[in-house]
Amino acid sequence: MPLVTIDDFQIEVPEGTTILNAARMIGGDLVPPAMCYYSSLKGSGGYCRTCLVKVEQGSAKDPRPMPKLVPSCRTTVMDGMVVRNETSPEVVEARAGVTEFLLVNHPLDCPVCDQAGECHLQDLGYEHGKLNTRSEFRRRTFRAD
Ligand code: FES
Repeated sequence: MPLVTIDDFQIEVPEGTTILNAARMIGGDLVPPAMCYYSSLKGSGGYCRTCLVKVEQGSAKDPRPMPKLVPSCRTTVMDGMVVRNETSPEVVEARAGVTEFLLVNHPLDCPVCDQAGECHLQDLGYEHGKLNTRSEFRRRTFRAD
């Protein structure tokens, strides 16, 4: 079973486990946010980029780092892999950028939405986003049906 290190925590996981699911097995703050991955839905994940992580060491056999941040929901762990999530300033900055893009046309005080207060996107915005947008354009708004 591959041994993976995520933010200095080590865990052995079954072959073929993704970095995201390995982090979920550890739990706590090590779990990257995931907006488009749903474990029961085949083919989900890999689109929103909120789960980006930094792979500092690819594996025990090939310790080279991966050149770019990778989506943890689509990247399987290798034995000896070393991953940085919250402890990487590069990841934190990238996640803030992704969150800002996701919220370009989305208000955070969603008064018409039933999910307000229990919304993962809202949580992501408060945890990783910036309070103000740098966009110079007005948000697109839609009339309620
Ligand atoms: S959860 Fe969306 S890219 Fe991984």
